[in-house]
Amino acid sequence: MDIRAYNRDKWNKQVESGNPWTVPVSPEVIAEAKLGRWGVLLTETKPVPRGWFPASLAGIDLLGLACGGGQQGPVFAALGARVTILDNSPRQLARDQEVAAREGLAITTVEGDMRDLSIFADESFDLIFHPVSNCFIHEIRPVWQEAYRVLRRGGALLAGFNNPAAYLFDWRKAEQGIFEVRHKLPFDSRNLTPEELAAEYDPDDPWEFSHSLEDQIGGQLEAGFRLAGLYEDTQNTPLGAYMPHYIATRAIKP
Ligand SMILES: C[S@@+](CC[C@H](N)C(=O)[O-])C[C@H]1O[C@@H](n2cnc3c(N)ncnc32)[C@H](O)[C@@H]1O
Repeated sequence: MDIRAYNRDKWNKQVESGNPWTVPVSPEVIAEAKLGRWGVLLTETKPVPRGWFPASLAGIDLLGLACGGGQQGPVFAALGARVTILDNSPRQLARDQEVAAREGLAITTVEGDMRDLSIFADESFDLIFHPVSNCFIHEIRPVWQEAYRVLRRGGALLAGFNNPAAYLFDWRKAEQGIFEVRHKLPFDSRNLTPEELAAEYDPDDPWEFSHSLEDQIGGQLEAGFRLAGLYEDTQNTPLGAYMPHYIATRAIKP
């Protein structure tokens, strides 16, 4: 099973079906950003604290990692950052190019895998922005190691990811507010039986994977990062009323 090829196709389809994480920012958002009024999401509802970014983004080299969709990249470009967006879905990257063309912004887009940043030299970026997306790959330690390698000393990796506990429940029932423990952690779509797949998945859904906090936070520390910030965020679902679904971290390369 080629997870990357499978999820590329599914994310291309998500663009067609209007998944909110594929809808680009409006001209108003870019106009506001140019006036210094801006906010971006690593998770679903809480904007990233302003203090997690450098005082000015003008001229910094910023990598949006698995960050296509025309959402954060254009805002960073409007603030003067030199933006590169890497994503596995050409349709998601086309969103960034659409906004760049519409707004007269420069954004470099690269189709690639978040686990393999070998096209970038060591210490190429000042900031890496990595919104919730590592649930779409089965191994995340390489992501932290590669992010560490391509970041400059003193640079920061801002990452959003899912709380693994959210994967315990039957997805369809959880949408109706019925929380039935069904899945063993770590969750891996590939382990679902055909019956479970039919019951819990839409045909156009990407494969998903849960990751332990040991792999999420321990993995960043093991790669060499120093944790400098953390917050939790909620999801607009019935489960969101019971537990924070997301975690965001700020990690520094010392
Ligand atoms: C929820 S979207 C995140 C982007 C969005 N701008 C946001 O604010 O969250 C998840 C993204 O991860 C990308 N993705 C999935 N697997 C990937 C992989 N192996 N390497 C790079 N990107 C991947 C998808 O194509 C999709 O654009």
